[in-house]
Amino acid sequence: MSWFPQKRESTWLQRACEAVLSAGPIPRHVAIIMDGNRRFAVKNSLAKSEGHVKGFDKLAETLEWCLDLGITEVTVYAFSIENFKRSPDEVNCLMELSRQKFARLLQEKDLIHQHGVCVRILGDISRLPSDLQELLAEAVSISANNKRAILNVCFAYTARDDMCMAMRDVADGVKKGLIKKSDISEYLFEKCLYTSHCRDVDLLIRTSGEIRLSDFLMWESSFSCLAFVKVLWPDFSIWHLYAAILHYQRNHGKIQIARQNNAIERQRLQRESDLKCVMEEEEEDKSGVNTKDNPAGSSGKDSPSGVAEQKNVQSRVQHYKEVREKRVEEFLRT
Ligand code: FPP
Ligand code: MG
Repeated sequence: MSWFPQKRESTWLQRACEAVLSAGPIPRHVAIIMDGNRRFAVKNSLAKSEGHVKGFDKLAETLEWCLDLGITEVTVYAFSIENFKRSPDEVNCLMELSRQKFARLLQEKDLIHQHGVCVRILGDISRLPSDLQELLAEAVSISANNKRAILNVCFAYTARDDMCMAMRDVADGVKKGLIKKSDISEYLFEKCLYTSHCRDVDLLIRTSGEIRLSDFLMWESSFSCLAFVKVLWPDFSIWHLYAAILHYQRNHGKIQIARQNNAIERQRLQRESDLKCVMEEEEEDKSGVNTKDNPAGSSGKDSPSGVAEQKNVQSRVQHYKEVREKRVEEFLRT
């Protein structure tokens, strides 16, 4: 099946449901754990590989539903690093299916542009066969300027692996003096994750009845609405999607409050950290310790400690904040 299947006319009941749902908040970013392909294959006396093919077909259909509903970003768990532990036959079959589907996507270049979909791959693609890496890179490159919707395909991904890589990047930055240890914050850390360019995940759906995240978007889903749906992925229907959106709408208020509280707490922690750094620098200046060149740029006449005598604490903290933000943004650009 193509990534852009023939559109079926919606029924009056679908149109009615969509009208009702569109009166409430529609999740802008939906993440999906497409689980249950092999159980579907067993249930329908098919080969496992056929279960995954049906799983892909369902993905294509679901993307169309999402676009129609105004969901502008979708992230799917296509292949976990843990999946490499499956039998070589199954791993090969999933790699081959991906080869075929991404080659097809490249053939359907005009349709990607027509639908305005930007494809991104999240994961450690160096673990994949090199020909597949090339196909993925090309799909990302040809669709990079599309603006209507984003499809993030998590491939050779686990959240823990992503977080370890991010930790290494941050540690490296501190070691090289590009950032200071005190610059490490939730903001900095999440900007080092694969999802740094993604908007917040509003709704995370897992099919098959399993009630766990299985190492998917663990950082990103802290303030997401979770929907565990008792249906095998290839059997997922538009009605399950409507039900998940309704579940999101019922919980929307609480999620927004939790997000706002988290944002306020982040700001408070950051102000506290900046104040502590200013005070520490002042102490160091007084005791004459801070006389060496500081690669992180916090000493010298432009540093908060350099202007400490003329300014009050608030303006010194403000100055420190500006220097820190510049340092962090420069590090993130590297
Ligand atoms: C989980 O079901 C599904 C996968 C491990 C693979 C998901 C992949 C697809 C749907 C195809 C996507 C392809 C592209 C090109 C994006 P499972 O195998 O764990 O089934 P089970 O839970 O019944 O054992
Ligand atoms: Mg499974």
